[in-house]
Amino acid sequence: MSLALIIPDRKLDDLQQRLTQALPDSRIEIWPDISDASAVEFAVVWKQPPGSLAALPNLKAIQCFGAGVDAILSDSTLPALPIARIVDPTLTQTMVRYLDSVVNYYRLRLDLFIAQQQQQLWQAKSPRRFQHICLLGLGELGSAAASHFAVLGYQVSGWSRTAKQLEGIQCFSAEAELTAAVAQADIVICLLPLTPATESLLDTVFFSRLKAGAILINVARGAIVDDEALLAALNNGQLQAACLDVFRQEPLPAQHPFWQHPAILITPHVSAVTNVSTVVAQIADNYRRSQRGELMANLVDISKGY
Ligand code: NDP
Ligand code: OXD
Repeated sequence: MSLALIIPDRKLDDLQQRLTQALPDSRIEIWPDISDASAVEFAVVWKQPPGSLAALPNLKAIQCFGAGVDAILSDSTLPALPIARIVDPTLTQTMVRYLDSVVNYYRLRLDLFIAQQQQQLWQAKSPRRFQHICLLGLGELGSAAASHFAVLGYQVSGWSRTAKQLEGIQCFSAEAELTAAVAQADIVICLLPLTPATESLLDTVFFSRLKAGAILINVARGAIVDDEALLAALNNGQLQAACLDVFRQEPLPAQHPFWQHPAILITPHVSAVTNVSTVVAQIADNYRRSQRGELMANLVDISKGY
């Protein structure tokens, strides 16, 4: 009986060691060095090479090593098995802190002052007055961020697929209410999963619904944004700035126009990286559950895509 870590391009010694401690009776192997593919019953995966899961004939369950499962579901050879994802208070707190920092970066006009410093320009300007923040996605991360900004005194709206009631948040749902959700926003934060319904959702029509001069923060997935539409919205002033942590292609290709755009702030998919020490317990627990034939925690609804 073994557990495979299929997480290319990441040092896995720490995860392997901690899982070995938590599951002393099981072998923890790092793909592609799997000694016996037929012994693997559980896989922990992140951006797995297509076909790597299908090559494990006795696999019982899949644990995503992050919160978003779009990369797992994009594998056309994916076996029909239960998939669990990471839901972790530390990950949520990390995301909220990142968003709080970015909102303050723009509020304090650090973007402007960095540009001014490059020209040795001493020109004071008072902070931007943000009143309204909109969260697209009111799940684990979006609802925590929405509550955080509401407690700070911002007017906060949020948008989700199904209707919600959250204290202090104006909640909107479904396609018909998207315009109302974003209409007042000075800052729009995207925390939607990438699914067929959200791919390229932030397009020309979407940007035209925003208040002129709004700011976009995308920490969800790059493919939710139409890159050309975003550049056009920045160039015609519909958007004032964009902070992007996620991209259609990662790393962002060297020739991509986002790199050079003065109104775009780029971070390399770091807003909330999975913390090995805080997620080991839930991975081990899901492994044990799958061995006992029980439902795993934080199951993905594969039909919805998240
Ligand atoms: P959840 O699944 O908990 O929440 C998703 C939210 O999006 C829900 O409120 C859901 O609505 C809503 N939603 C889904 N589809 C639609 C739709 N078609 N229209 C309107 N709303 C929709 O996810 P998390 O909050 O845990 O994570 C969100 C995403 O953040 C992840 O999928 C991942 O891509 C990204 N992420 C990025 C990280 C980074 O480092 N950049 C780190 C972690 C996550 P409903 O509540 O009705 O189901
Ligand atoms: C995630 C991510 O989905 O890191 O967890 O993007």
